[in-house]
Parts: sequence; C-alpha cells; structure tokens
Amino acid sequence: MKKAKILAIVGSLRKDSFNHQLAKLVEAEVGERADFEILDYQDVPFYNQDVEFPAPEAVSRVRELVKEADGIWFFSPEYNHYFSGVLKNLLDWLSRPVGKNEAPVLIGKPAAVSGITPGMSGTLVAQDHLVSLISYLNMKVMNFPRLSVPNAMDQLDSNGKLKLTNSYQFLKAQTDAFLDFIKNK
Ligand SMILES: Cc1cc2nc3c(=O)[nH]c(=O)nc-3n(C[C@H](O)[C@H](O)[C@H](O)COP(=O)(O)O)c2cc1C
Repeated sequence: MKKAKILAIVGSLRKDSFNHQLAKLVEAEVGERADFEILDYQDVPFYNQDVEFPAPEAVSRVRELVKEADGIWFFSPEYNHYFSGVLKNLLDWLSRPVGKNEAPVLIGKPAAVSGITPGMSGTLVAQDHLVSLISYLNMKVMNFPRLSVPNAMDQLDSNGKLKLTNSYQFLKAQTDAFLDFIKNK
C-alpha cells in the first residue's frame, strides 16, 4: 500500500521556532508510518489580486505540495491571540482557485492543528481562530485531539532544544489519531 503523505505547515519563519521544533518531534514520532515534509514557504509573496494569474512560481510550487498531500498538519504560534500573518497570507493564496476549471487545493483536505508557546495559553486562542478559518475553507478538520503546549521553556533539554517531557504523550496521541483520520478520510 502507498504511504500517506503529511505536509506540515509551520506558522513561524524563525530559525529556532518552537513550532518548527514541535513539527520535527512529530516527524520523528510518525517515523516510517507516513512521509512527512515541512513546507518551506518563505518565498511566497504577499497576496495581491493583481498578480494572481498566472500564479507566482512559489505559489504554484506550494499548491502542488498541498495537492499531493493526504493531510495537512498546522503548527501555529500565537501572536496577539491570533495565528501569524505569514500563515494567513499563505492560506489566502491557497484559498483561491488555481484556474478557471480547478478548485482551491485545500477543499476536503484532512487537517490537524497543534501549537506551542513559552506563555501559558498554549496557543489555544490562536488555534480556535485557525480552526474557524480552515473550516470555512472546507478543510476536513480533526477537531479532537488537538495538541496545545504551554510553558515551552519547561520542556527543553540541556542544549535548549525542545524535548517535550510531560507533553509527549499528547503528541503521540495526536499523531496516532491523525494517521487514522487520514486513512479513513
Ligand atoms: C507579535 C507577537 C505577539 C505574541 N503574542 C502572543 C500571544 O498572544 N500569546 C502567547 O502565548 N505568546 C505570544 N507571543 C510569544 C510567542 O508565543 C513566542 O514568540 C513564540 O516563541 C513564537 O513561536 P515560535 O517559537 O514558533 O516562533 C507573541 C510574540 C510575538 C512576536
């Protein structure tokens, strides 16, 4: 049987992003059970209706990766109780039709949502906004379980890298659940 493909979209572009590190931990937990790729979308321009058709090369590349994926896993930081602007920009592009005869690529795609913050909210408020948007975009959202990790600083190893000590069981549970969710889509 063909392996499922998970595409991870991290809402933070920063090099040492906790959300990027969280995606890497999920990648390790997924292991051989599915292909797992973290989307690089730094080159996607600001959405502008004037340059929508033909789509900029970076947008076409990202759309292809989304099209090929069996599931999209969002790792979202929380900025002012919202998800980030770069993620909103990406989702605006992905929400648009590819061409006259081709629907937007997110429709019907299974989606999981996770997030981590050094603060106490665990990104839950941002996640709720994100779930509201991707539901509107007709993604097939796995509403439960969601992974929400507060107090990131308490879960680092001696080199300052994310280790996810007491939250690891929740990461594992969400990984198992999303692999099942994709299989039964
Ligand atoms: C503009 C801005 C707004 C922020 N607002 C929140 C917030 O509302 N809640 C929160 O828990 N952390 C907030 N933070 C702190 C982020 O959670 C922290 O910078 C986190 O490390 C960002 O995710 P990353 O590590 O994946 O880059 C904010 C940070 C920035 C830069």
